[in-house]
Amino acid sequence: MRYLVTGGAGFIGSNTVDELVLRGHSVVVLDDLSAGKEDHLTDIRNKITFIKGSITDIETVRKAMHEAEYVLHLAARASVPRSVKDPLETNRINVEGTLNVLLAAKEFKVKRVLFAASSSAYGEMPTLPKVETMQPVPISPYGVSKYVGELYGQAFLKCYGLEMVSLRYFNIFGPRQDPSSPYSGVLARFCTAFLEDKQPVVFGDGEQTRDFTFVDNAVHANLLACEAPNVAGKVFNVGCGDRISLNQVLVALQKITGKPLEAKYEPPREGDIRDSQADISQARKFLGYEPQVGFEEGLQLTFNWYRESQVKAVAKDAAREAAAKETAAKDVG
Ligand code: NAD
Ligand code: UD1
Repeated sequence: MRYLVTGGAGFIGSNTVDELVLRGHSVVVLDDLSAGKEDHLTDIRNKITFIKGSITDIETVRKAMHEAEYVLHLAARASVPRSVKDPLETNRINVEGTLNVLLAAKEFKVKRVLFAASSSAYGEMPTLPKVETMQPVPISPYGVSKYVGELYGQAFLKCYGLEMVSLRYFNIFGPRQDPSSPYSGVLARFCTAFLEDKQPVVFGDGEQTRDFTFVDNAVHANLLACEAPNVAGKVFNVGCGDRISLNQVLVALQKITGKPLEAKYEPPREGDIRDSQADISQARKFLGYEPQVGFEEGLQLTFNWYRESQVKAVAKDAAREAAAKETAAKDVG
């Protein structure tokens, strides 16, 4: 099969591309590298086509689309607080960019588009767990942008017969999630804080909860949603069905690392929801989805990955320094 993965150099995207390549599919990645890294694709670089470009440019999207059978549309500005700071840019990428992807998908008659939707569409509705039949009430520009993407998908099915399936991911974490920005996902931030013996920063009292979901589960759902029958236009929660507070995450990391690091508590973020937990019975029923990796195992795997990346980065720096010294010595000689 031929797949186009927008945002394929990002965290969830590159993990998905790895699995597609492993299964022998042909893959085109379209990513502007605004948040993703080409490094994430190093191991499979000669097996895929990589196009550096933006989904906000329709001609670039058309070029990337022309042979695709399936589209995994993951490119987005993925941060809630960034959307609060700059809603226009979030709208331009997440809404206008998505419209470009749908228009090109319609033009090239792709079989199905998989849309990376978000649990943030539910907003501040207090009922838990979240069920797909609840009326979304997003409370951040990001949540709005993701919900609008779903609505466009449903309109394209009615108007043009284009199949789109939306997966509302619930707080995905795991290897390759960027820890370096203040807007990065909380588990990436916490893992690196523990590695660097820095105090993790908690916005609020740390009692807010999330259905933290290891990335392999999202990849699994992505591939199922491309092929499941009778799901066009539908929306599915993708999570584990549990909820864990940030304070519980900190205790788990203290246990994994043996470090008694205490958090620094700061005021809550604008646009933050309080609690989140998925009901995954629809994904189970229609997609055959079942979480593959639980929270604790996922957290251990994630922490190990950041630790190994840190070791590799130190070794790389040492090798670079040694090479520079050798060159300098030769120059002197
Ligand atoms: P990410 O930032 O790692 O991935 C997004 C990718 O899109 C990056 O590689 C980035 O460079 C690329 N991108 C951004 N703007 C682009 C543009 N204009 N043109 C082309 N590429 C562009 O984030 P992620 O966590 O892997 O998220 C992937 C998708 O899943 C996003 O759509 C996000 O909204 C959605 N999502 C993520 C989570 C989560 O918990 N991580 C939860 C719900 C939904
Ligand atoms: C995350 C995703 C978003 C997705 C949504 C759906 C990221 C960056 N965001 O948003 O794309 O659509 O899940 O489930 O992946 N926090 C701290 N300290 C930190 C960072 C965050 O306390 O250093 C807090 C936040 O204030 C929030 C919680 O941790 O209460 C989770 O934040 P974050 O990881 O940014 O995720 P969401 O905002 O839930």
